[in-house]
Amino acid sequence: MNTGKRKPVQSNSVKKNSYKKTRAPNQNKQDIISHAIRHIDHITYAGKTRNEKGFIERWQLMGFSELVRLHTRRYPATHIALTSGKSSDFPWETMTGLSVSEDPGSPINEFIIRYGEGVQHVAYNIHPEADMEELYQELKKRKWQFMTSVLTHKDDHGARLCQLFTAPQVPAGTFVELIQRLPGPHGEIFNGFDIVNIDDLYEAYSQYSAWLEKHHRSKAVKYQKAFETQIHSDFMRQSHSTGYYG
Ligand SMILES: [Fe+2]
Repeated sequence: MNTGKRKPVQSNSVKKNSYKKTRAPNQNKQDIISHAIRHIDHITYAGKTRNEKGFIERWQLMGFSELVRLHTRRYPATHIALTSGKSSDFPWETMTGLSVSEDPGSPINEFIIRYGEGVQHVAYNIHPEADMEELYQELKKRKWQFMTSVLTHKDDHGARLCQLFTAPQVPAGTFVELIQRLPGPHGEIFNGFDIVNIDDLYEAYSQYSAWLEKHHRSKAVKYQKAFETQIHSDFMRQSHSTGYYG
């Protein structure tokens, strides 16, 4: 895994292979979506820094061990991946993530302040032969909303990572990740993360949450005004009927 500076890779540079070739010419778009999503790749929790040790110990008791720990810079935080098991085509079977930050303004702490410690996002693993850009476009047509486009990264061995993140429904709320891990020329699959992608995600998450907050607030003010107008008109109607003003 490469935790250094981003080496931009366009998602449409993902090699087209048998997944595309074996698709019937008129296979409908729903099939593209149905065949793309395989299984849960990881579930990530937002936690308080002081609870990090206890969190890791609890998951170790569940059979997990620490795979990697990444430190992001633009949105300072520590992102820890714990894995369990081993599958035939993958270096691990299941992953649990934990994100903590000492920055009080971090979206991680914003999440905790609003909702408490808990699941921040669930990531679904995408078939390595799926076209992430096509999947992104098709899901958008089906009214899925995203806070990022397809984020890509290529490591020094040529293994590639593609990620896509849905928009939260509420400010700093939970979201869904679609993640595709692609092998390099020697067959070694991309099994970690990239700090530039993580920071890009957090930038989008922060900005989208701020937009939602503003949108919700203006909506709330509008509803409050409508409510007050209704109460006032009800009061006036009742007052007239009882002759209070007469
Ligand atoms: Fe994730």
